[in-house]
Amino acid sequence: MSRPLAVVCLAAGLGKRTKVSIPKVLLPLCGRTLLGCSLDATDALRPQHTIVVVHHQKELVEKEVSSRKGIVCVDQGKPMGTGHAVKMAMQALSDFDGDVLVTYGDCPLITTETLQMLRESMEDSVCAVLTTFQDDPTGLGRILRDEDDNFVGIREHRDCTEEESLIDEVNTGFYCFDSSALRRALLKLKPDNAQGEYYLTDVIAQFADQDLNPVTFTLEDGYETIGVNSLVELGIARARMQERILMRHLSNGVMITDPATTHIDHDVEIGPETKILPFTVIGSGCKVGRGCEVGPFAHLRAGTVLEDGAEIGNFVEAKKTRVGAGSKAKHLTYLGDAVIGKNANIGAGTITANYDGARKHETKIGDGCFVGSGTVIVAPSQLGARSMTGAGAIVKRDSVIGDEEVWVGIPAKLLKRRDPSTIKKESR
Ligand code: UD1
Ligand code: CA
Repeated sequence: MSRPLAVVCLAAGLGKRTKVSIPKVLLPLCGRTLLGCSLDATDALRPQHTIVVVHHQKELVEKEVSSRKGIVCVDQGKPMGTGHAVKMAMQALSDFDGDVLVTYGDCPLITTETLQMLRESMEDSVCAVLTTFQDDPTGLGRILRDEDDNFVGIREHRDCTEEESLIDEVNTGFYCFDSSALRRALLKLKPDNAQGEYYLTDVIAQFADQDLNPVTFTLEDGYETIGVNSLVELGIARARMQERILMRHLSNGVMITDPATTHIDHDVEIGPETKILPFTVIGSGCKVGRGCEVGPFAHLRAGTVLEDGAEIGNFVEAKKTRVGAGSKAKHLTYLGDAVIGKNANIGAGTITANYDGARKHETKIGDGCFVGSGTVIVAPSQLGARSMTGAGAIVKRDSVIGDEEVWVGIPAKLLKRRDPSTIKKESR
């Protein structure tokens, strides 16, 4: 589409109903914040400008946004309604001419595709409103239509007559506007309603009065447009987002045995034919290759990379750890800041003690290494290729175990060199 695009994302609300101290739009959802999810949906439309309207706890919201390029935060000052919020944003877009898409920092499920269709539905009108149907429309603005079914305006719940309150088509709050028509209409807004607020919805009534034909674009299932006002609603949104993430991996050929007990964040890559067994948690920023096996009851945290065919089993946690192709850690293990080569076997109960109370240190485990059950490796330490530790060995910090050496004991010390003929073929 050739017209330039600006996004105005409203995020100035207080969010009292969450009963937690962080700003509502910074609540986490599958490894991102609510605001992050909303901005990801609009970033994909490649807008020329993105304005985030902030106010309550704005420093925290600004900090979250600062890692993204080209986003401008505008302080609304005292929030006086959605019309006021957009008016303040438009002051930062005074030279802009094009489409203005209005979105919300607390509506994380909205998709790029829906916003694109909303935008396209505008055709040569000045405004398109995203609507949906609700069995219980309590609290939402109702879509008003004339006898010929033409869209004529939006009535806020509190301002509805009894008859209007029976309308089940509702305003989702997402709109696409022509910037100059929007600017003109915002100038005329007045706070003469039940809440004494400047309603953005009154802009649409003006367009209808002026025969500018505002249009609607309707979603049959409006779940994408739900807002998060409480932790209960956060839970509902999380379930939908999780389902979306899991469906994407399943359709890429990832064999997730039990989606209901599998938690995978955004920004996780998983290769085809990898098995993810029940009760597995994979955090943002993990990469899992092809043909791996993860779980049951495994936890992969940020920065973990499993190369093709690696296996991570029950009660294993891996943080910022690279597990080489074909290597296995199948039971009861913590791997933190570890770099593991190919075809290594990490025995049950192995711990990399990566933290000395002040700093994190790295553990290197070479190709074909065999770490005996219950080994504790105090980092930084290195275990050479095809080296071996005995059960219960404590490898002291700064240890350098040479290739093929076998270390045992507490603290572990060199016992002997391994006989190559006793080393499994794939580990050699
Ligand atoms: C708004 C719509 C309503 C629609 C509903 C959908 C108006 C007047 N009404 O109502 O038709 O059905 O959304 O959810 O627009 N915000 C600011 N600054 C403000 C006021 C609001 O940033 O001054 C932000 C809030 O943080 C919130 C969003 O805008 O995320 C919606 O504001 P809210 O006052 O809750 O609107 P609703 O009453 O829900
Ligand atoms: Ca309100």
